[in-house]
Amino acid sequence: MRESGGFLDDVLVGLRGEQKTLPCKYLYDERGSQLFEDICELTEYYPTRTEFGIMNTFVEDMARHLGESVLLIEYGSGNSRKTRLLLDAMRAPVGYVPIDISREILKESASAIEKRFPGLEVFPICADYLMPVSIPEPGVLVARRIVYFPGSTIGNFKPDEALEFLKRVASQVGEGGGILIGVDLKKESGVLKRAYDDRKGVTAAFNRNLLARINRELAGDFPEDKFRHEALWNKEQGRIEMHLICEEACRVTLGPESIVFYAGESIVTEYAYKYEVEEFQSLASKAGFTPQALWTDPGEMFSVHYLDVTLSAG
Ligand code: AVJ
Repeated sequence: MRESGGFLDDVLVGLRGEQKTLPCKYLYDERGSQLFEDICELTEYYPTRTEFGIMNTFVEDMARHLGESVLLIEYGSGNSRKTRLLLDAMRAPVGYVPIDISREILKESASAIEKRFPGLEVFPICADYLMPVSIPEPGVLVARRIVYFPGSTIGNFKPDEALEFLKRVASQVGEGGGILIGVDLKKESGVLKRAYDDRKGVTAAFNRNLLARINRELAGDFPEDKFRHEALWNKEQGRIEMHLICEEACRVTLGPESIVFYAGESIVTEYAYKYEVEEFQSLASKAGFTPQALWTDPGEMFSVHYLDVTLSAG
């Protein structure tokens, strides 16, 4: 995958392509992160609620699998709400490393965790988790490093990127380490589409905020009101695609460049891949993980997996 070259550069590269794209990580500025939290409360957006239910029901069992003296590393920690449940149930965790791209949210959640778990070493890292980060060493002995990656954020990656990401995690946690990961499951397309195109238009506002952010931070002149939100289920690829559709031909000036849009042209802003349980397990196995446990809700909407890098014999 290409290295990030900063906001303007990333945007220009994305908009030069035949199919225009924008990196989904830029959806999460302060307003975008707030809108995403609002999405999580929507009736149509089942993943957050469902994953919470799974965590609530099985957190003791999960904690048993994770074991004692764990250094917990969380990618895209956001508000860390699910993590609190997990830390409550874990036996003597030694450290928590939340990694998030949103500085404000990271600060808030790290200090909330510190308050709630005195004695737990917290090492917040403000970073894009696509970039390599070095994991701090707590002052106490770490039995095992475990990555927590909830929310089905893995779905943002194309399968080859997901594989690369999981390989990196495997080498980061090392032998004996593991990953606890939330993965949204394939289901009827209407349910999926509604989750990404809600009646109140919160997801639409979340998507369109990206253009507002570009205009504000990069002095762009996107006619925001000419772009409409669209979510579609791509069955062949097994993913939801979020698009911004330009309803009228226009030209946008950004930095040194001028970008032409034809009427009806789309910008892809985010993918959300959905997996079958076995599909995900086989992907993770290719990255060096061994499936150890799996938890789902009664409706089999969402899954939480624990996989580890099994110690090789000898
Ligand atoms: C935070 C990436 C898991 O893909 O479901 C929600 C983001 N985008 N509605 C998802 C999102 C539109 C969300 N993730």
